[in-house]
Amino acid sequence: DLNVNQYLRERIRTVPDWPTPGVQFRDITPLLQEPKTFRVLIDAFVHRYMDRDLRPDVIAGLDARGFIIGAVLAFELGVGFVPIRKKGKLPFTTVAETYELEYGSATVELHTDAVQPGDRVLLVDDLIATGGTMMAGRRLLERLGAHVSEGAAIVDLPELGGSQRLRESGLPLFTLVDFS
Ligand code: PRP
Ligand code: HPA
Repeated sequence: DLNVNQYLRERIRTVPDWPTPGVQFRDITPLLQEPKTFRVLIDAFVHRYMDRDLRPDVIAGLDARGFIIGAVLAFELGVGFVPIRKKGKLPFTTVAETYELEYGSATVELHTDAVQPGDRVLLVDDLIATGGTMMAGRRLLERLGAHVSEGAAIVDLPELGGSQRLRESGLPLFTLVDFS
């Protein structure tokens, strides 16, 4: 609800010119540091995904801040958690997807046995900027035959166009706080 969104928004820290000049970095670490705020944050997601029609079979978390939210949410819902990691970190056989960043490219990987065909997967990260990371994560899960039912994040940066592109590609999104 509106009060939760405002409560969280007021507690996200904006760091000017990080990691590069001109970027206003939205830092979610204060939300985790304060136990009450951490609880409000996780409960906002639990409330949505406990619902019978929205409860996933599996939660996939995006490296690295998506692990924090995704793992706690999975634990609360009583479903499994699988990590989508940056290249070179996962030990077993993987599928990989490379995507473009503002400068250069990045590769993310997922264990081939992380999900089963037909699984309904909720994809979780802390923030959506260009949407490239979430799009790549979705492709990995779909290559293994899973269905990504929704993407969830704390923060959306709508001016960067990522959330709009993701929605236009057919991925429903749930985010708690917008920053322009
Ligand atoms: C940030 C953020 C998202 C991604 C969003 O992660 O946590 O994962 O970028 O950007 P996008 O929508 O343009 O893809 P970062 O790459 O900084 O990695 P980290 O979580 O390991 O710090
Ligand atoms: N905060 C956190 N992660 C990010 C941001 C931001 O402002 N922009 C791109 N990734």
